[in-house]
Amino acid sequence: MDAQADKNSGPRIICVSSGKGGVGKTSVAVNVSSAMAREGKKVLLVDGDLGLANVDIVLGINARHTLREAVENGMPLMDILVRIDPNFFVLPASSGVPEMASLAYEEQAFLTSALEEVAGAFDYVLLDTAAGIGDSVLWFNQWADNNIVVMSPDPTSMTDAYALIKVLNKQYDKSAFHLLINSVKSKKEGREVFNGIAAVLKKFLDIEPALLGIIPQDSHVSRAIRTQKPFVNNDPEARASKAVRQLGKAVFAL
Ligand SMILES: Nc1ncnc2c1ncn2[C@@H]1O[C@H](COP(=O)(O)OP(=O)(O)OP(=O)(O)O)[C@@H](O)[C@H]1O
Ligand SMILES: [Mg+2]
Repeated sequence: MDAQADKNSGPRIICVSSGKGGVGKTSVAVNVSSAMAREGKKVLLVDGDLGLANVDIVLGINARHTLREAVENGMPLMDILVRIDPNFFVLPASSGVPEMASLAYEEQAFLTSALEEVAGAFDYVLLDTAAGIGDSVLWFNQWADNNIVVMSPDPTSMTDAYALIKVLNKQYDKSAFHLLINSVKSKKEGREVFNGIAAVLKKFLDIEPALLGIIPQDSHVSRAIRTQKPFVNNDPEARASKAVRQLGKAVFAL
């Protein structure tokens, strides 16, 4: 049995990264997790921004425990899990803890095996990573079955996405990438951004990325950061909510 077929029986691990910061990884990861859970799948969202947590803020949760306690004291991940919805669980991270942003090899290995154990209870595990190409970002991407790279129309988000993909390709032998274009003014703009980076990836790395989804720029997304509720539930008719539900379907089809 090949690795992919084998994976079909277990949880699917999906990493959400970007290169450039602030392009919408956390907003998208939280909302698509919530949308997928409401479709009946059991979803775990891991805040992989280990030193500068975001997921708890976006969801308005006050985490009693975080992944820091797992790494530092061996706390079982089951004790750290926060239940958001019947099928939607979160593993929160700590914020303002620089040591967590650069884990030693043994700590990373410990966290991965702990995550592997807990992952078995879920259909999908989404990893919302930090920006950049730091160790934890590369390591979460290496662990994942699918690699989603988020970009915005900002040209620097394209060069940073390219840099991340290049490192994952050259150092970790990853060649399948799903791109998500966020904060666009129109679908057309989203397709143009995708075509632009796809051409560069093909030319320089011989990689043919897939377009996973396009999410419009929508004030409901930025407002949701203030209300601390997923916009996909709070404003189900918003354009971004419709796009996120569609994205959830695309993730099911991965
Ligand atoms: N589609 C969108 N429309 C409008 N605003 C958006 C959209 N997506 C994200 N934003 C806004 O952009 C900001 C950054 O979003 P978010 O925190 O999700 O990005 P990030 O990639 O996780 O950032 P970081 O790299 O710091 O972790 C937030 O204020 C969010 O509300
Ligand atoms: Mg984030």
